[in-house]
Parts: sequence; structure tokens; C-alpha cells
Amino acid sequence: MGDRVWEIGKLTDTQTRKDDHIKICLDEKVQFKEVKNGLEKYIFIHNCLPELDYENINISTNFLGKKLNSPLLISSMTGGTENAQIINQRLAIIAQKYRLGMGIGSGRVIIEKPEVAKTFQIRSLCPDILLLANIGAVQLNYGYTWRECLKLIEILEADGLILHLNPLQECIQSEGDTNFKDLLVKIGVICEKLPVPVIVKEVGNGISAKIAKKLMERGIQAIDVAGAGGTSWAMVESERSDSKLKRELGKTFANWGIPTADCVKDIAKKYPDIPLIASGGIRSGLDVAKLLALGADIVGLAYPFLKAAMTSMETLEELVELLNAEIQTVLFCTGNQDINSLQKSDDLIINSERSLL
Ligand SMILES: Cc1cc2nc3c(=O)[nH]c(=O)nc-3n(C[C@H](O)[C@H](O)[C@H](O)COP(=O)(O)O)c2cc1C
Repeated sequence: MGDRVWEIGKLTDTQTRKDDHIKICLDEKVQFKEVKNGLEKYIFIHNCLPELDYENINISTNFLGKKLNSPLLISSMTGGTENAQIINQRLAIIAQKYRLGMGIGSGRVIIEKPEVAKTFQIRSLCPDILLLANIGAVQLNYGYTWRECLKLIEILEADGLILHLNPLQECIQSEGDTNFKDLLVKIGVICEKLPVPVIVKEVGNGISAKIAKKLMERGIQAIDVAGAGGTSWAMVESERSDSKLKRELGKTFANWGIPTADCVKDIAKKYPDIPLIASGGIRSGLDVAKLLALGADIVGLAYPFLKAAMTSMETLEELVELLNAEIQTVLFCTGNQDINSLQKSDDLIINSERSLL
């Protein structure tokens, strides 16, 4: 992106926050340090005789009625400023080229300031992909109803709506919205009223099976666990804050959350039928394959796509091609022809059980 332009006209607080987030995620040390994504515990059993032709391995899949050429989702990130628009456009072009799913960043600012809608509107660049709008579920306690959610879907021409749950982030954010009372009922109303699937995600602290059950009972159609192990939003907000208290608070909770692998394993085991997105700290196609084997249907990445999008389209292409090659290599070296076969296999084991082989 060359020179970054951080000041564009008069920005609302929400817009300023969006550019701050991008900058901090790229420039500061805000990845989980002590807590990992949980995948380090697992290894695949190598198959030295796959009896497959590498060229015929199929890594495509379907999710919420759309075909994806590989099981990858660009996780919800941004919108609302000129920088965000460029990032969104680059991501949309890549998502269309490689037929990946894509979440757009929180659309709250579109309702506050409709003239910025264009910074989110990327459907013309990616007509065929699974495109998901996004808003904080907590906004349902701050004046947003199913009508605003429907408007968002229509403006963005999205295939579904992601409601994100971010209680820890809101605690640390200086201007955080911390009234999470009665949200479950309100999420149920959104599911009832919207003509598209509603997905609930976290932002990097994870969703437990217990909460997944409550959400499923209210009608949500998919879960994105967005677990611990990658970008730490406690740290991002700590970096942003002018308040000493909030900065310290963020540091205390820098490693808070359920590792992504643990969320996926638990939810997939208890509720195998719920469409499941794994995300949070996923940094390679080997990670992606492990999560598929643990029961995820598709896998999301935020930070790696942000970093690549800030560099160039070529960097984005290289990222997707490497991820795809890594997934395909796992399938080949475990003797699985396609994703379905990997998901049904028992080729992923806990590393400490290796000696039993
Ligand atoms: C710059 C940036 C902005 C983000 N904005 C949103 C957002 O608007 N809505 C949301 O649900 N998640 C948002 N996220 C969180 C990601 O979707 C993801 O859940 C989280 O960063 C963990 O994934 P990662 O470890 O791959 O980065 C954002 C992430 C980044 C890096």
C-alpha cells in the first residue's frame, strides 16, 4: 500500500478506531504470547503410501450454500475509512479469484454515517463468493434492531450476518459498550427476522460448547469460535488507550481466552451438525488442516490477510497459494482425497500418544 494515509477528512470516533486497529495490529506486539491456538498438541500420522495422485486432490468445499475452492475465510476486519476501503477491495479481489469466503468489518459506522458505505461495498468485485456482513451483538443494546441489521445486509449485498461477541475487548476499550444484558433473546429475534443465516463469532477469546448450545437454541446457523492464540484484542485496546488503568487492564488479560483448537474440538464433538468456522491464531495451511480434522468446516484468518493486503496483491496471492498448497500436502501425506475424507479420518492424534503407534 506504500504510504499509509491515516487522516482523511473528519473521522467519527468509530472511523478513527478502525484505522487505529489496523495500525496497532500491524505495528505493535499484540499477538497472544503465552497462550497458543492449541494446535501444537496435535500431529498427523504420516502416510508413506497415499495411493493418490497429488494433482487430483480436491480441497474445495461448501459452506452455507456457497462453493469455496478451498476451506478458507478471510475473517471480518475493516471498513469505514479510505485505508479500509483499499484493504477491503484487495481482499475482495483475492476472495473472488480463489473463491474464498470473506467477512467484512463491523458495519456499525455505516448506520452512523451512511456516506462511508462505499468503503465496505465490495460485492461488485466478488460476485460469486460467500460474503458476510458483521456487527457487534452488543449494539443490540445500543439502539440497533433487526431493521438496521437487515439494512446492512442489503447495503452490502451480503449472504449472511455475523454478530460478534467481544465482552473483554469492550471492557478495555476506553469508549467500550459494556451492557451485555439480555443479548441472547435479542440475538434470537435477529435470527427470526433476517432472511439470511446469522453466524455468531468471538474476536479472539473463544466460544465454549456451553455458550454455543445457548446460541444454537436461539436459532443461529453457524458459529465462528475465534479462539485464543492469535491477535489479542485485550492488547490492541491496551495499546490504544490513554488511560493508565485500561492499559494495565489490557495487559492483565492479554492471554485470556479458550484456545481455538479446544473450542473446535469441544463444539464439534457435542454438536457435530452445527456449521463450524475455526479461527483465532491460524497461521498456516497445516493449522487449517488440523482444525478440519478436529471438526471445523472452514477456517478463518484475519491478521495474515491484513498483513499481506497492506503489502501487495502479489503478496496476497502468495499467501493463498501457500495456504492451499499446505492443505493439499496434508491431504496427500495422510492419504485423504478430499476434505470430507480428512474430517472423517482418525489421522490427527495428540502428540504425546505418538509413542503408542
Ligand atoms: C484490523 C482488524 C480488525 C478487526 N475488526 C473486526 C470486526 O470489525 N469484527 C469482528 O468480528 N472481528 C474483527 N476482527 C477480529 C478478527 O475477525 C479475528 O476474530 C481475530 O483477529 C482473531 O484472528 P487472527 O488471530 O487470525 O487475527 C478484526 C481483526 C483485525 C486484525
